Amino acid sequence: MLNPIAAVTCDDPYDYYASLANAPCLVWHDSMWVAASPALVMEVMAHPACRVRPLFEPVPSAIANGSAGEVFGALVRMNDGERHALPKAALRRSLGRVTFDEVDATATRIARELAGMAPMTAAHLSRWMMEVPVRTVGSLLGFNEVKLPLLAMWMQRFVACLSPLSSTEQVESAHSASLELLAAFRILLGAPRRASLLEKVVQEAQTVGWNSDHAILANLVGLLSQTYEATAGLIGNSIVAIQRGVPWPNDAASLVREVARSDPPVQNTRRFVVEEANIGGVHVKKGQVILLLLAAASRDPRAGGLVFGFGHGVHACPGQALAEAIAIAAVKSLRDVPRIQWRYRPSVNARIPEFFEEMA
Ligand code: HEM
Repeated sequence: MLNPIAAVTCDDPYDYYASLANAPCLVWHDSMWVAASPALVMEVMAHPACRVRPLFEPVPSAIANGSAGEVFGALVRMNDGERHALPKAALRRSLGRVTFDEVDATATRIARELAGMAPMTAAHLSRWMMEVPVRTVGSLLGFNEVKLPLLAMWMQRFVACLSPLSSTEQVESAHSASLELLAAFRILLGAPRRASLLEKVVQEAQTVGWNSDHAILANLVGLLSQTYEATAGLIGNSIVAIQRGVPWPNDAASLVREVARSDPPVQNTRRFVVEEANIGGVHVKKGQVILLLLAAASRDPRAGGLVFGFGHGVHACPGQALAEAIAIAAVKSLRDVPRIQWRYRPSVNARIPEFFEEMA
């Protein structure tokens, strides 16, 4: 029997999601409300009582006592109100100044280099798709090429603490990776590479009046962490689409954008209700959680072309164009992918395939 969390990593959740999206109001499921139709997802996203973190736990208690928790607490993604508005404006403006051609050139170079390092087995493909996005954004930010493998390794350790499924060892390792990442960004901030994304972030922070050094540093780490798994998932799900028989892309851009709509890497997100209110046709109490099924909303015929896999409203993803450009370059650069199988990595919100060799 499927439930909204198990659906994220099951083979085909989409009939199930469609049945949930038919509900005219929020539906109670286990311990939380679920919104699945485009109208309900938009209503919750826009409701002032719905926040990105619970009031009593701005940082998950499992990571609160360490560097990863400090970074988490300063991320635009994890704040509402004042701590969100200025940083968000600066990030949106700086990311908006990165051109498609610049991303395409960087991602294509990195994708080709990494692909050429070993025969394209299933295991190499899984590693490759995880590495290309984070190395690309690291390079765009202005890191030296020799630093990129290290950045990718720290980021792998950093994001491993962000799931409710994380172990104590993963949390400890994330704190030390976070310190490494902050130190690396501090050095780079001392001498930003000209015309780099990092320089743009600094310039736009000044323009909008965002002047918290700590928050800027944390959100630079945040750019890499937001890139890491989600963009790998977009590449991976595009490869899955090809394996499922979607013709080999003459037009990688259409394939990637269709996958972002129909089989997105971020399947759901949450909102935390901070005061009782009528939301989505039901009475919601303070402290309750609403799960937003972005992947269900995007596929609903009533979505009218709106893609929800990058969020919606004030917290909408400012990295969508960058993520799509990286995935397009990666898919274009792939040649001769063998027949492979996949399973999805354990997760409560991300749909990221892991490839393995087809059994004889
Ligand atoms: C395929 C790749 C990506 C996907 C599917 C994705 C998805 C999302 C989603 C769903 C949200 C909104 C979460 C919510 O409202 O609860 C979000 C927010 C965000 N994303 Fe992405 N993202 C991707 C790549 C990126 C990249 C490459 C960057 C930047 C380098 C980025 C930066 C951000 C930031 C800063 C936020 C927070 C925005 C805010 O809270 O106002 N993302 N992303």
